[in-house]
Amino acid sequence: MKILIDDADLEKIREIYGVYSVDGVTTNPTILAKTGKPPFEILKGIREYIGQEAELHVQVVAGYAEGMLEDARRILKELGENTYIKVPVTREGLKAIKALKMEGVNVTATAVYTRMQAFLAGKAGADYTAPYVNRIDNLGADGLKTAKDIHDIFKRNGMRTEVLAASFKNSQQILELCEYGVGASTIAPDIMEGMIKNECVTAAVERFVSDFEQLCGTGKTMSDC
Ligand code: G3P
Repeated sequence: MKILIDDADLEKIREIYGVYSVDGVTTNPTILAKTGKPPFEILKGIREYIGQEAELHVQVVAGYAEGMLEDARRILKELGENTYIKVPVTREGLKAIKALKMEGVNVTATAVYTRMQAFLAGKAGADYTAPYVNRIDNLGADGLKTAKDIHDIFKRNGMRTEVLAASFKNSQQILELCEYGVGASTIAPDIMEGMIKNECVTAAVERFVSDFEQLCGTGKTMSDC
């Protein structure tokens, strides 16, 4: 399963990249707004840091297909041809996805709340569809099951579209989708950090250090004992 960072704060992205093996960065208009900076200034900084080969997903904002295509052209011009254009799966969005795929553009179908949307986006040729796990849960439905069902729809129908699961509330949800074999998850930095936080592990490591220090002296390690 690919792992992407769902944030546009370059400092947080650097922090996560320094620790974890990640495949890229996803953004949306809300995430960009949180930075308080001009969109392309922040996005160019991210692209420069992660490199041209890493996945960068950037969302269109226009409400109509023609405007979405114009947004996409600007995004690709500023950030490189391999950037994934995120398009909400609305009626207009489907038109735009179809047109973008005919031009060979990488597309992530987003704002996916239903299997129906995902299926239509897959038919339109999207590379990824992004079900919003937590937001689906908040509607009284089952976000993880929806993501798994969408994965099954693609596999059973021989469609090449992959799930890019988004909107998580805890780390366990990501592991569950990994076990199921979904293609990718995009994860907020605090949820990502939660994947490695474990007090039992911390206590075990502290015990190893204190036992070694009793043997060799305070502050001693294998390199200087
Ligand atoms: O890209 C979609 C994702 O960022 C939504 O997450 O936490 O706003 O539901 P959230």
